[in-house]
Amino acid sequence: MFSKICIIGIGLIGGSIARAAREQGLCHHIVAFGRHSGLDNLRTAKRLGVIDEFYLDIESAVKDADCVIIATPVGVIENIFRLLKPFWNEQAVYTDAGSTKGNVIEAAQAVFSAVPANFVPVHPIAGAEKNGVAASQVDLFTNKRLIITPIATTSEQSLNTVIEFWKSMGSHVSIMDVEHHDAVLAATSHLPHILAFSLVELLGKKDEQVEIFKYAAGGFKDFTRIASSDPTMWLDICMANKNEIIPLIHQLQEELGIIKQMLVDHESQQLFETFTYANQARQRFLKQFNNHMSQSITFNIQPGGSLRGEIRVPGDKSMSHRSIMLGSLAEGITHVTGFLNAEDALATLQAFRAMGVKIEGPNKGEVTIHGVGKHGLKEPKKPLYLGNSGTSMRLLSGLLAGQAFNTVLTGDESLSSRPMKRVTAPLVSMGAEIKTEDDGTAPLCITGSSQLQAIDYHMPMASAQVKSCILLAGMYAEGNTTVTEPAPTRDHTERMLNGFSYPVLRDGDKASINSKGKLIATDIDVPSDISSAAFFLVGASIAENSDVTLKHVGINPTRTGVIDILRLMGANIEVMNERSVGGEPVADLRVVSSQLKGIDIPEELVPLAIDEFPVLFVAAACAEGLTRLTGAKELRVKESDRIQVMADGLQELAVNAQATEDGMVIQGKTVDSMAGGVVNSHGDHRIAMSFSIAGLRATDPITIQDCENVNTSFPEFCDLARGLGLNIQ
Ligand code: S3P
Repeated sequence: MFSKICIIGIGLIGGSIARAAREQGLCHHIVAFGRHSGLDNLRTAKRLGVIDEFYLDIESAVKDADCVIIATPVGVIENIFRLLKPFWNEQAVYTDAGSTKGNVIEAAQAVFSAVPANFVPVHPIAGAEKNGVAASQVDLFTNKRLIITPIATTSEQSLNTVIEFWKSMGSHVSIMDVEHHDAVLAATSHLPHILAFSLVELLGKKDEQVEIFKYAAGGFKDFTRIASSDPTMWLDICMANKNEIIPLIHQLQEELGIIKQMLVDHESQQLFETFTYANQARQRFLKQFNNHMSQSITFNIQPGGSLRGEIRVPGDKSMSHRSIMLGSLAEGITHVTGFLNAEDALATLQAFRAMGVKIEGPNKGEVTIHGVGKHGLKEPKKPLYLGNSGTSMRLLSGLLAGQAFNTVLTGDESLSSRPMKRVTAPLVSMGAEIKTEDDGTAPLCITGSSQLQAIDYHMPMASAQVKSCILLAGMYAEGNTTVTEPAPTRDHTERMLNGFSYPVLRDGDKASINSKGKLIATDIDVPSDISSAAFFLVGASIAENSDVTLKHVGINPTRTGVIDILRLMGANIEVMNERSVGGEPVADLRVVSSQLKGIDIPEELVPLAIDEFPVLFVAAACAEGLTRLTGAKELRVKESDRIQVMADGLQELAVNAQATEDGMVIQGKTVDSMAGGVVNSHGDHRIAMSFSIAGLRATDPITIQDCENVNTSFPEFCDLARGLGLNIQ
């Protein structure tokens, strides 16, 4: 790319650029320019092979260089421009690595009057506490963000060259304008450094500092890590960007003042909400960060093995959501046990906290909800972020349409692409006002209304989420709201409403509700989720010599399609100790290995096993003969397109699986059912877990990418699966 790069300032950043450029073969020759006082460092750079030569006079350093990179502290950049000016070469590319950009542009203007078109301002977002060339690393910029802030006069050719240069070194390049860059960095980098420096200074000056530092634990160390950064460099940066930093310091002072007042006034609930909001915001940030930096979780499964043992899988997701929603609207205190401590259910819990409900826990599955009554929710201060959870968004949209305040519902990338018209259209016909994106997706902006009118709604698809959404809106509508379903779907909303003493009339395929009832707090014992148990029902069926007992599983008849389908395929599943817990049937399920056979899956079972098809496809791949699924178009609009994603993954494992418009055709194999390979779960938790189970019958290891969303429904999956005998890392 370049024949000679000249680096001005060969410290941590300059040295790392030199190492990476050499490693990637981006230049033939690398030299450095430095001052006499930096001679030792320059010699080290040469000795380590980071550069080929160094110079103390600028003319020799830049002679014939087609790329000049200024990697000095930002405070000296104007001087560097002055040194460079007499030898400026219009044919070369000039760039920098400064952490602030406004002052770099000003410095260039001061020296050249107009910023040269072949100067491209760059800020690599990478660093370390150490400095000097000895600390430089070849991969300092790999998978790190890098911001380029071109100005109107920057030459496109130079810009493109610099973009290509950094991309070749593995950086994720973004383009931003100068002011935006400085404002963003002031908030995300400069202010945190000032905070770390000032906290350590404050504590360090106290008389009892020895005592303080002696007992300082991880929190202090984590928070103040960046106070070990180079003071000279940070002095330069803070001075250069003080116009952006000072207003932020004011805002932070105000925030601290508010928190101080909460403490003075014993406002524990508000303080708790502040902490919780920050906690959630950080989780979201980390998630986004991981997505962007593609540092996602990968599962590796060694082939073969058996599953043996007795486990209790975590609580039912559908019921956990509903326990928070109805417990919040109830009068009195609701105690929940068996609550699913996973991201989806926590998104609902968090949303109600943000609407003023005091909720304690979850602590070992126990949650205490201090209900505020049907009309007691408060307007949330911010949009409600619901992560990956379709159930949260769809059910909440109905419930919130009838409130006296406005709300905005947002979600992650997957949730933001899922169809929401199925709930907004009937809600609008009840008189709700909801704005969506043009294609009907989230964010949903709900204008609260106390004017909802009942409807008689015939659902076009068999969806428990849509049914529940309309029933919840019906609690706030004038008249009797009736929902008719084309096929039975899970009825937890109806059962739980009755459990909270709220009348819901059920008559065949219809459920009706009106606004006259009220919810009375009750205790809820959430059974284990049959959708999570399903992975082991299939795993123990397909893996030889297996015998697994799954304790306390919810076997509501609207959820047991997976047992019916597996039994039709020849699975050996015993339902033991059937009992009723809080209006929901529960049992222990024992499953032992058996040779499955392919079947045509009866369409009426589809809604009753809607979440279990990914793992049922794995069962079909190990069955003797053909398995055919039809009437399951809904699978295309789940957390991923589960028909396509499963077909792609199975084909990758050499399974003869053909996606159809509304299902799948799979030719099973009893021997060597699946090969090994790398499959992508597309961030869908159930796909990730299904392919993990496939490992039990694969001939070679399976690698599953993008598995972090297993945390949305079943964070203990790996531990429990490993405990039963799956070789999963
Ligand atoms: C759910 C209903 C189902 C299911 C989802 C949970 C619920 O969705 O797939 O995981 O809790 O009501 P649909 O209503 O879209 O079928």
